[in-house]
Amino acid sequence: MAVSRAHFGGVRSRSSVVPRRDAQSTPVEFDRPSVTRYGTAIETELMGDADVRTSLEHGAELKRTSMRIAAVGDLHCSKESAGELRPIFAHADGRADVLVLCGDLTDYGHPEEAHVLVHELSVVKLPIIAVLGNHDYEAGHAAKITEILSEAGVRVLDGDAHTIDDVGFAGVKGFCGGFGRSTLGPWGEPIVKAFVKEAIDEALKLESALARLRTQRTVALLHYSPIRETVIGEPEEIYPFLGCSRLEEPLERFPPTVVFHGHVHRGHLEGKTRVGTPVYNVSLPLLRRTSAEHPLRIVELSLADA
Ligand SMILES: [Fe+2]
Ligand SMILES: [Fe+2]
Repeated sequence: MAVSRAHFGGVRSRSSVVPRRDAQSTPVEFDRPSVTRYGTAIETELMGDADVRTSLEHGAELKRTSMRIAAVGDLHCSKESAGELRPIFAHADGRADVLVLCGDLTDYGHPEEAHVLVHELSVVKLPIIAVLGNHDYEAGHAAKITEILSEAGVRVLDGDAHTIDDVGFAGVKGFCGGFGRSTLGPWGEPIVKAFVKEAIDEALKLESALARLRTQRTVALLHYSPIRETVIGEPEEIYPFLGCSRLEEPLERFPPTVVFHGHVHRGHLEGKTRVGTPVYNVSLPLLRRTSAEHPLRIVELSLADA
């Protein structure tokens, strides 16, 4: 199995997805103190079934020296999905320490779909952290979906922070509005201002969650993309509906170790924020096209420097 590896100098991560040739990481010099405190390297690697690295330091007390995060989004679980998602989740068990789900957990936002998803997730013995996506809002039952998942033990983040060992997770759905100089501005009709305000509010929620974390490593979960790079591959006409640069601002102010997002079914697997934080698009349809058998992104964060 092909192996792709890139070193960024400190933090290390691994992946079970074949990066596209043009999406492979290149060395980056971090120049912000809040980034360099994490160490210096990111490593991306295709992980086969037998190629699993566990890192436990044996001493007076057992200490975790890495955390493997399995990530996937856009499950679009429907009433007909029973049995379809289970193999994906089962693959994460034993190969990761935590499973993160990046929104569009259900197809139309029906509570019945959330119940099917909970059943599919029953094979997972890992902690599960999730954010909702736009599809989870479609039927007007987002709160009920959150309740169903929460009762099943899934930690659903909506501007919240959650810590497992020395890794902190901050999650929001995010919103759209476009990228760079083409980002929609709050000007003109009230409805446009309201639209832009939603993106700003989501960015502020993400900032608030990231600011609360005091862990050695931090992970940001979103549904919408915070960068343009991972939406490339979609029709350019719909870029503004796939994410928003406003979501990148908190990622610069409080740089996480790694960012995961979904929503972009035909985009790019990997990108980086302006300060060099790796961003992974873990949309299931995209992962299926690159790793049909095990469509999961598994990233290993080194805690060795703790
Ligand atoms: Fe989706
Ligand atoms: Fe979506």
